[in-house]
Amino acid sequence: MMAKDRLIFPLDVPNNEEARKYVTLLGPHVGVFKIGLELFVSEGPAVVETAADLTDAGIFLDLKFHDIPATVQRAIRSASYLSRTDFVTVHCDQGRSLLETIVDEVSVYTKVLAVTVLTSLDTSDLLALGIQPEFAEDPVQLVLRKAVIAKAAGCSGVVCSGREVSAVKREFGGDLIVVTPGIRPAWGEVKEDDQKRVVTPYSAIKNGADYIVVGRPIRTASDPVEAAARVVEEIEQGLRDRQQ
Ligand code: C5P
Repeated sequence: MMAKDRLIFPLDVPNNEEARKYVTLLGPHVGVFKIGLELFVSEGPAVVETAADLTDAGIFLDLKFHDIPATVQRAIRSASYLSRTDFVTVHCDQGRSLLETIVDEVSVYTKVLAVTVLTSLDTSDLLALGIQPEFAEDPVQLVLRKAVIAKAAGCSGVVCSGREVSAVKREFGGDLIVVTPGIRPAWGEVKEDDQKRVVTPYSAIKNGADYIVVGRPIRTASDPVEAAARVVEEIEQGLRDRQQ
């Protein structure tokens, strides 16, 4: 696996035309394109085929399924385009049976990633949601608890912030892929940022993340290709320092 293969670029754009633009521009510089709610809701399933046809990079369908198992099961059975995706996400919060349903339904080529605690949430948000203070004050414990459920259900990996990566890797090693969003390079400012539990590409990778999701620091850079290359350099440095 090359360093760039670990970089996931989210296609957080409103339409197919913009998506094509970024897939063409960044295709040689990133490992995976992530299709999320904005693009999927506006363009529909065809966008998965469009992106997959344009690039050799992986495709990550980030719909973060979150409903009763029967509903999600039917949704997946009617989603033939899922066979072209390398990753798909589900929220941990509906418990083990929903995770198992998805693992059972997707093809062996699609890896199921369980979303633990969104990186946009901090302690005060978690307390307001009724999460016990011992977990709200230390999201690492909450993430680990959810990772245990994800692993038991047969998920391939989890999504968590860079602050929890080392704890998850200590616990599960290579048994769980860790994908980390909420990445902010020291050199890239994001205006009106909603991400709270953020880390740099270097530290996420050094701490063990298998993949990082980097959106706005690349998309809003004056030169997105150069920004992607800088992120890949940090990934390389993080991998080197991880081995020491
Ligand atoms: O780097 P930036 O903040 O722009 O990345 C935003 C992307 O990260 C969005 O596509 C969002 O869905 C994704 N994300 C995620 N999991 C989180 C937080 C953000 O996949 N916990």
